[in-house]
Amino acid sequence: MLGAREDFVRQMRRQSSWLEESLLWILDTRVLSRMPGTGTVTALDVGCGPGSTVQIMRRRMEVKGVDIDPEMVEECRSLGIDASVAPGERLPFGDGSFDFVYCTFLLLWVKDPVKIVSEMRRVSRHWVACLAEPDFGGRISHPKELAALDEAVIEGIRRDGGDPLMGRKLREVFAGCGMEPEIGLHPGVWGIDRLREESADEWRWADMTVEGGTHKAGLETARRAWDTALRDGKLFQFNPIFYALAEK
Ligand SMILES: C[S@@+](CC[C@H](N)C(=O)[O-])C[C@H]1O[C@@H](n2cnc3c(N)ncnc32)[C@H](O)[C@@H]1O
Repeated sequence: MLGAREDFVRQMRRQSSWLEESLLWILDTRVLSRMPGTGTVTALDVGCGPGSTVQIMRRRMEVKGVDIDPEMVEECRSLGIDASVAPGERLPFGDGSFDFVYCTFLLLWVKDPVKIVSEMRRVSRHWVACLAEPDFGGRISHPKELAALDEAVIEGIRRDGGDPLMGRKLREVFAGCGMEPEIGLHPGVWGIDRLREESADEWRWADMTVEGGTHKAGLETARRAWDTALRDGKLFQFNPIFYALAEK
């Protein structure tokens, strides 16, 4: 169990690190520049996990976190983050308690995303944002043998109760909460050096995600094709991760 938790925390840290520059750009150009008032901006991270996104966001604002999993809250507190256990569906805060309420990599894992975003809207004074929701159906990978990996990941996320196509549904979710969001895409193409650096972690995550699936043979072929293309500098992956933000 401890091993599984360590792997999960490691993956969350990787995901946040991919988005660091882009998240700060969104904050600076889209949110803070349009925030009324001049005092400290307060924020709530819903489904904060081990706190890796909070650590990025708190460079610009004062951030609290909530997560349904007490172990994640404990991880956050070990980093000095003010975090508590709470379900995103029933946030223990009054209406308009925070300037900015956001989540990352949360909606794809919840039963009722509209309920979560409605609750985020209720406790926000100004801005509501879903800052990172992937869409695995939009992945583009080369060489063609990697299609088996992409399909296996989609199957694995569905088997674990997630929605691998959440990225494309963000506008629908916000519309369900009475908001018209600005939607954007984080840069989703890595250089070959980064692909090389992250190759082992990427496959560790893929193996965890597809475990027990029906694509074993295709995956072995995909792994060989990946290694060859990586060695020859021909590997390509586009991983779409979308954000949506709206003024309350
Ligand atoms: C994939 S992790 C993302 C963590 C973090 N936001 C990040 O980007 O690193 C999803 C997190 O949401 C939490 N979570 C799932 N369902 C939740 C819910 N209904 N309410 C609050 N947290 C929830 C999980 O415990 C987990 O820590």
